[in-house]
Amino acid sequence: MTPTRAGAGQLRRKETEPAPSAAQQPGLIIALTSLKGGVGKTTITMHLATAVAQAGLAVVVLDADEEVSAVRWQQHANADGIRLPFEVVVAERNSLMRQARDFARAGRTVIIDTPPNNREVLKSAATVADVVLVPVLPTGLDVDRLATTLELLADLEAALEKFNYAIVLNRFDARKGMAHEANEALNAHPRLETVIKSLSAYEKVFGQIPTELAQFRLIWAEIGSAVGDLP
Ligand SMILES: Nc1ncnc2c1ncn2[C@@H]1O[C@H](COP(=O)(O)OP(=O)(O)OP(=O)(O)O)[C@@H](O)[C@H]1O
Ligand SMILES: [Mg+2]
Repeated sequence: MTPTRAGAGQLRRKETEPAPSAAQQPGLIIALTSLKGGVGKTTITMHLATAVAQAGLAVVVLDADEEVSAVRWQQHANADGIRLPFEVVVAERNSLMRQARDFARAGRTVIIDTPPNNREVLKSAATVADVVLVPVLPTGLDVDRLATTLELLADLEAALEKFNYAIVLNRFDARKGMAHEANEALNAHPRLETVIKSLSAYEKVFGQIPTELAQFRLIWAEIGSAVGDLP
């Protein structure tokens, strides 16, 4: 049998994408990622989505975590007759990047919530995102564990033309010396200036519309200055 060879012109070329019309400026894609669990990815996703929706943009949260915490948040809200100001959609297993891109092309801001400890999903989400946010908790252990996530992102950065990532310090408590030390240590990396305080309001808001949004408006403004004009 003659083996088939890919000759010139047989490689599949990417179709030219239709330019979005002026009225339909593509939305931004933001991914919340960390190999470590419990750092606040879902909490930040839902608060940021609310802040951006309240700024007047159409927002969709793509839930790429098999635990579907963001989807369950929406289900709990709906069961109580509460309508979140954005939609939460389950990410498709093998087409997360396409799905995110399609929503963004349709003019929606896309926020991707990812699972902990899943390199494959982290890579897909970070690859398609305009901005990657990596939450970290203010303890020595957590800052130390950040290294593996940052290594993975640095590797992606080598292959991508445009790549923006930043660490965001979560559950900051100004009364704790350790929190200040962790905050200082993060200055060695790309980071957001805004830190998210430790508030019981964030723990109680599951299944409801988030209301403590001041820090998330600041984060949205920081993202805006990093990527240029926001949609
Ligand atoms: N800034 C904060 N202040 C107080 N509690 C917080 C804060 N951020 C997150 N939490 C709480 O910490 C816990 C973990 O947060 P969350 O579920 O958002 O993390 P996660 O990174 O999505 O976790 P997982 O990796 O399991 O998906 C939750 O109980 C949440 O309410
Ligand atoms: Mg989560």
